[in-house]
Amino acid sequence: MAIESSCDETSVAILADGRTVLSNVISSQIDIHTAFGGVVPEIASRHHLENMNTVVEQSLREAGAALDEIDLLGVTYGPGLVGALLMGVATAKAIAFAKDIPLVGVNHMHGHISANFIQYPDLEPPFMSLIVSGGHTNIALMTDYGKCTVLGGTRDDAVGEAYDKVARVIGLGYPGGPKIDKAAREGNPEAIHFKRVFLEKGSLDFSFSGLKTAVLNYLNTERQAGREVSVPDVAASFQAAVIEVIVKKTMEAALDRKQEKLVLAGGVAANSKLRQDLQEACDKQGIKLYVPSPVLCTDNAAMVACAAYYKYQREGADDLYLDAYPSLAI
Ligand code: KG4
Ligand code: ZN
Repeated sequence: MAIESSCDETSVAILADGRTVLSNVISSQIDIHTAFGGVVPEIASRHHLENMNTVVEQSLREAGAALDEIDLLGVTYGPGLVGALLMGVATAKAIAFAKDIPLVGVNHMHGHISANFIQYPDLEPPFMSLIVSGGHTNIALMTDYGKCTVLGGTRDDAVGEAYDKVARVIGLGYPGGPKIDKAAREGNPEAIHFKRVFLEKGSLDFSFSGLKTAVLNYLNTERQAGREVSVPDVAASFQAAVIEVIVKKTMEAALDRKQEKLVLAGGVAANSKLRQDLQEACDKQGIKLYVPSPVLCTDNAAMVACAAYYKYQREGADDLYLDAYPSLAI
């Protein structure tokens, strides 16, 4: 069993043998936070508290399992919102203590990558990975289960954060990623040229805050001139600028290090244009692309359970002093 509560999803999953999902219950707070235009940490913690026991019970029911049958307990202990993380960690410690079950703290980002082990039962490290979420944008070489060398990351906004901020300024609201993804399908990606930011030659780092400002400047200029702004065109043009850079850098990383497998992970991996463009680039280069189904891309406890299974085999259990680490590194 694993518990995930790093942001605004309370999720509990039960897996058999690390890769077979028996239940993966996700209670989303999106509707609650929409009214505020983004996740309010204190409100998120309170709702985790209210929902947690029900989600644990529902997960057991759907899996047809009893708590006494659980032989390993995983929990996300970072990175994420501290109060939200603490809710999951405290619940996991209480169950582990009461039922004498080994406890394993899981890095949320390793959880995202592990979603692919569930989707593809034969997938094994090493592989190149692209991790794109609300808080992270990383290119990392996974050398073993739970072990990676980070090759690049964002110097400012994470890609999901850029999607969410741009969605807010163009009036699409929260959560921005899926809304831009949808609006962009109706728009022209060449309508507005936003600069592609590649940074220094050979760098696998990213920077998205300039692009966000460019979108804001474009909107201000158009509005001041009294011209009507096409939301689908802005969404499609913004998305084109983000995805072109991500795809080029990821392919460069995979080809330079002669990797034949590329794994996509994190909430933004649900983006239809990113999936499509990466697939085309991989097909051209003979690289096999691994992409989890959308429900395994965004936050869920099944991915955490899978990561816990492999971490336990490698490192054993954590003790009951396990704490929450909001800025835990990948
Ligand atoms: O991994 P995740 O569920 O939570 C974090 O660990 O951050 O990722 C959430 C992020 C949000 O920024 C959300 O807007 C983005 O993933 N996202 C998307 C899509 N679905 C979710 N971004 C672009 N296109 C999507 N379809
Ligand atoms: Zn996440």
